[in-house]
Amino acid sequence: MQASSSPIILVDALHDDQPIIYVNPAFERATQYGAEEAIGRNCRFLRDPASNDEAERDRLRTALRVQTKATVLLHNRRKDGSTFLCELNVTRC
Ligand SMILES: Cc1cc2nc3c(=O)[nH]c(=O)nc-3n(C[C@H](O)[C@H](O)[C@H](O)COP(=O)(O)O)c2cc1C
Repeated sequence: MQASSSPIILVDALHDDQPIIYVNPAFERATQYGAEEAIGRNCRFLRDPASNDEAERDRLRTALRVQTKATVLLHNRRKDGSTFLCELNVTRC
């Protein structure tokens, strides 16, 4: 995970509001947020508030609720405010 060129986030699915517990260096490069700024927060802090991703987000909410895998496309925002489209693959480990 540490050496992966793909951004990786681990969250604690058993904890209230599923806080981030790990991000890899590729995540830090892609989002401009350091691990210390991301850990402990819910991933929604990355959301681009101007985006209109509700259908994708609903699919993600359902997948998280019933604990299935999901692939969704969400618009995220970097620390500098620029946005990027993120293909999110959610899985359990
Ligand atoms: C592993 C994982 C990664 C996630 N990554 C993002 C992300 O990059 N951007 C985002 O907006 N939401 C992401 N989410 C979804 C949010 O954490 C949250 O579940 C979603 O926005 C629904 O929350 P809400 O009902 O408060 O809107 C991720 C969720 C998980 C489990």
